[in-house]
Amino acid sequence: MAKAPMRVAVTGAAGQIGYSLLFRIANGDLLGKDQPVILQLLEIPDEKAQKALAGVMMELEDCAFPLLAGMTAHSDPMTAFKDIDVALLVGARPRGPGMERKDLLSANAQIFTAQGKALNAVAKKTVKVLVVGNPANTNAYIAMKSAPDIPAKNFTAMLRLDHNRALSQLASKLNKPVADIEKLVVWGNHSPTMYPDYRFATIDGKSVKDSINDAAWNKDTFIPTVGKRGAAIIEARGLSSAASAANAAIDHVRDWVLGTNGKWVTMGIPSKGEYGIPAEIIYGYPVTCENGEYKMVEGLEIDEFSRERMNHTLNELLEEQAGVKHLLS
Ligand code: NAD
Ligand code: LMR
Repeated sequence: MAKAPMRVAVTGAAGQIGYSLLFRIANGDLLGKDQPVILQLLEIPDEKAQKALAGVMMELEDCAFPLLAGMTAHSDPMTAFKDIDVALLVGARPRGPGMERKDLLSANAQIFTAQGKALNAVAKKTVKVLVVGNPANTNAYIAMKSAPDIPAKNFTAMLRLDHNRALSQLASKLNKPVADIEKLVVWGNHSPTMYPDYRFATIDGKSVKDSINDAAWNKDTFIPTVGKRGAAIIEARGLSSAASAANAAIDHVRDWVLGTNGKWVTMGIPSKGEYGIPAEIIYGYPVTCENGEYKMVEGLEIDEFSRERMNHTLNELLEEQAGVKHLLS
């Protein structure tokens, strides 16, 4: 018997990430090739944005996706989030050249307060939320704090793009396929302070750290290349990453819902104090996923270099959190 459709809300549906994301969701890449979906698409009320959204929906229709069981356009999160199982919160202002993601904080904080409240009011209490819009960790924190009736663990931020970027850098350094690498972590904030950490990673079962054996490459090349990749793409394209961001969003939610078979992935999730990170900070952690739940990989040894990096990215998150405190009272 066919499965009942799942409802997926996507905000910023007419934006660049939306254009790379929606077709893949409708094709079954997000929730499985046997899982029908209903898309509930949110854009700002602006006439141009709504018209663009209508155009994207015409294209979705023209794909005749067998799994697309319905779609609706919205300008109000209170209708867009009604009864949803999954929320992909993409809609936000992207940064331009020379800006840092935290420069977007005040512009985007209001959006995530309103959307958190709407999720609380009308989404399923089991809704899985992924925040993509930047600054993603703090926006996820704002949405989580604005939705007290939904479990905090259901609010996550996207560090999967950083995880995937780090995988590719390592595969290229070692001249091996990406798929052979396991047990990579990206700790902290989705910002240049993030700490991609391959100390536990293996390739074909062998230690990546031992295979590379170059602390200077780690510190001076690998960590900054991964951390500044978003800016490098903006510099090259004149626009922020879109297809790779959409791909990472698919990876994140698919793994959360369908499981990772024991593989580690990075998710930005609310801390419960693990690894010395204060509770409620949305921090990039290594997790495995099974039966629709993520589980943190605990007990990893944190050396002095790593602790310093992890604190650096934590301090930035604490600063961002202090900057939005007034909005959460
Ligand atoms: P975009 O400008 O092309 O599209 C954003 C869309 O969101 C626009 O169509 C806009 O009208 C809409 N929007 C704005 N406010 C909204 C609201 N309140 N409700 C609904 N829709 C709203 O931008 P994009 O390139 O698609 O990027 C979207 C966001 O994703 C940006 O914040 C960007 O920085 C971020 N991003 C994050 C990652 C990550 O790894 N976490 C990666 C890439 C991009
Ligand atoms: C990215 O990492 O590509 C995105 O967060 C977009 C940006 O502003 O860098």
